Amino acid sequence: MNGSRVLGTGSALPRRIVTNAELADKVDTSDEWIVARTGIRQRHIASDDETTSSLAIAASRAALEDAGIEASSIGLIVLATATPDNTFPATATKVQAALGCQGGIAFDVAAVCSGFLYALATADSLLKTGMAKRALVIGAETFSRILDWEDRTTCVLFGDGAGAVVLEAPTADSADKDGPGIIGTRLHADGDKHELLYVDGGPSTTQTVGHLRMRGQEVFRHAVVNLSDVLKEVLEVTGVRAEELDWIVPHQANARILDATARKLGIAPEKVVVTVDRHANTSAASVPLALDVARKDGRIKPGDLVMLEAMGGGFTWGASLIRM
Ligand code: UT7
Repeated sequence: MNGSRVLGTGSALPRRIVTNAELADKVDTSDEWIVARTGIRQRHIASDDETTSSLAIAASRAALEDAGIEASSIGLIVLATATPDNTFPATATKVQAALGCQGGIAFDVAAVCSGFLYALATADSLLKTGMAKRALVIGAETFSRILDWEDRTTCVLFGDGAGAVVLEAPTADSADKDGPGIIGTRLHADGDKHELLYVDGGPSTTQTVGHLRMRGQEVFRHAVVNLSDVLKEVLEVTGVRAEELDWIVPHQANARILDATARKLGIAPEKVVVTVDRHANTSAASVPLALDVARKDGRIKPGDLVMLEAMGGGFTWGASLIRM
């Protein structure tokens, strides 16, 4: 039996676009280096009046409109972020208040770049147990606020944004294995790799927010291996062959990781949704943002078999196969 189904998607980006050339005025880098090593051409950066919650609220409203449902029918909000508005309460509760659907469940999930996959699996599980009928699953970030803008090895890689998905609990026709819904998900974590990608601050250690630190080359190597392993695992447990996939919607960290992962699985590059050129790495927001872009431009259609995947700090990683 399939899991929860996707009723709608939405996304939001900060107004301000920052090009590689603009960054090259501030740090020792170049458009050529950034494009060649990452595929990134620009990113959206939040202004003072834009926050993780404001982006999440805008993306959620767009997703509700796309689904054609009222916010009052949402009983669960799971928001993935590593850059919450405040240490507490959860940014999800701010979204809930703004949408006016108080009384249900609302909490944040911290799994950095794979946060949306963790949030999706959590929401799907809660919906299956009957805790709620409809959920908003959100990935929202303002990574610009935790970047060291003098560190050229990291500041050129990230951007801000949000994506949201409306999920509905499985219904009677979910027994149809070709019907819409989440077909299978696998999540993993390896806490030994903490030092390769982390933020050097936090409430309980430094009482500061801290800055992102990354050993990029090592993260790159692990990303390709972990992502292709988890993709194979989800294909295996769902009994689906790689060539049956209509689309892959990967975490958008680096165009070279997307290429290498697709090649390892023998998936045609034209089936991979790429937004890293326009959005850079928006951490937990990148998968729902890319999913929304590809649905709204007409590439991803009802009935399509879509694989979502992501890997990030922790390390954490995962993949989820969905029939749209
Ligand atoms: O979302 C979580 C997952 N994150 C990721 O998946 C990121 C994974 N890692 C990567 O995407 C890549 O490793 C990077 C894009 C971060 C770096 O690319 P790379 O090909 O691994 O480059 P590198 O770190 O080996 O650096 C090559 C050279 C170095 O100079 P030397 O030592 O060869 O003289 C760097 O200092 O490029 C230099 N460099 C830069 N040059 C111009 C590093 N950053 C920059 C820069 N502009 N922004």
